[in-house]
Amino acid sequence: MRDRALIAEDHDDMRDLLQEVLDDAGYETLVAANGRQALAHIKKENEMIDLVITDVRMPEMTGHELLAKARELRPESPVIVITAFGSVEQAVEMVKAGAYQYLTKPFENRDILRLVEEALEESAAQREQARLRREQPAAPPHIIGASRPMRELFDHIALAARSASTVLVIGESGTGKELVARAVHEMSGREGAFVPVNCAAIPAELIESELFGHTGSAFTGAKQPRAGLIEASDGGTLFLDEVGELPPPVQPKLLRSLQEGAVRRVGANIEKSVDLRVVAATNRDLEQDVRDGRFREDLFWRLNVIRLEVPPLRERPVDIPLLVEHFVNKTTEAGKKPPLDVSSEALAILTAYSWPGNVRELENAIERAVAFARGTVITPADLPKRVRTSGGASALIARSIEQNMTLRELEREYILGVLRRTGGNKSRAAELLGLDRKTLYRRLDEYRADGATGL
Ligand SMILES: Nc1ncnc2c1ncn2[C@@H]1O[C@H](COP(=O)(O)OP(=O)(O)OP(=O)(O)O)[C@@H](O)[C@H]1O
Ligand SMILES: [Mg+2]
Repeated sequence: MRDRALIAEDHDDMRDLLQEVLDDAGYETLVAANGRQALAHIKKENEMIDLVITDVRMPEMTGHELLAKARELRPESPVIVITAFGSVEQAVEMVKAGAYQYLTKPFENRDILRLVEEALEESAAQREQARLRREQPAAPPHIIGASRPMRELFDHIALAARSASTVLVIGESGTGKELVARAVHEMSGREGAFVPVNCAAIPAELIESELFGHTGSAFTGAKQPRAGLIEASDGGTLFLDEVGELPPPVQPKLLRSLQEGAVRRVGANIEKSVDLRVVAATNRDLEQDVRDGRFREDLFWRLNVIRLEVPPLRERPVDIPLLVEHFVNKTTEAGKKPPLDVSSEALAILTAYSWPGNVRELENAIERAVAFARGTVITPADLPKRVRTSGGASALIARSIEQNMTLRELEREYILGVLRRTGGNKSRAAELLGLDRKTLYRRLDEYRADGATGL
């Protein structure tokens, strides 16, 4: 369907010119010779208007009054202001009051067309965000995300929750693996406890008795018999975090428990059966550990029955605004502070940053920004310096050298980075990149075909 613009302009020549330029560019147009006529169009509920172009000074109703009505009745339609040299000040006021942008007469045809295209793209992007927000409730409890890879993950979590098989959660540090493990447990309906065990945090010599428990006489110092964490998770879910750190001697014992559904406490002769469900997580390349002989292959296959991959945050920038809002609210509520907004500059910086520490790093940055914010808005100055400064090209060049990127890979990173910075606005990104739109679209198609997500 073609986008439709409402043109409000009292000078006939100007109105005809605008109509012709927009018609030629493939838009539908509606025209009004004064503010009142324009308002009549805006009030008609069944009339589709995607964009308003208005003059500042018009008889019967000024552009400013028309803008206020348009914002109220059609908040989704952007308003572009056309201004004569003498009324630039009023036009600036109108931009402050919510107009998309103003353009001074006389202007080139391509200037107005570029503005129209940008304004329409931006409002389409905002509608898409709103739609994603509405779809949010489908997510498992506590996990924020609306990007395509996250929605896929939510589907897989639901499938994993319905099955009794072992789940292996894979993802970089801070991506939310523990959250995913908890969601699998909560949605599984298993009534026992969720028992998290961090395999990296327990000293190797203690982990066996922590997991399996021990009899009273198992070793000196152990006077009371004690159940281990596997028994504690009976009927619930045992979450083996950083499972790659499990010491080699314990690995076959865990495998046996998984196969038999039973535990034998350290020092005991008999096994006790348990209703065991394991969710394991790792940020390591466990396959490589298997090849290097650090991790038992049979245990790996036993754990890797259902595999959930949590994508890094840089591959799903559309989730960043949602997470920012979530963490701002969470932090202000916890600190009993008044609600805070995030300025669009700050949000643009947060969205462009690559987040090597993923969601955890973002959460920390927001907590800090909430503490730093002085007024009612979080601004770029409240963000950590590395976030503020590393969106620049130097960080990308440094990373490209470190990772031995090819020129093609570097180009891809740069293009995607610029696109994130423009909030997904492709015509503005093309302009910044010095590419024509066709070339940009072709590149994006290639990246999509290579499996890039969130485009
Ligand atoms: N999608 C999300 N929605 C809301 N909060 C999230 C999300 N992902 C992560 N978090 C939050 O980010 C922090 C890190 O998440 P989590 O501990 O689950 O990461 P992890 O993958 O287990 O990291 P690590 O590998 O370092 O242990 C937590 O405070 C978690 O609540
Ligand atoms: Mg973790």
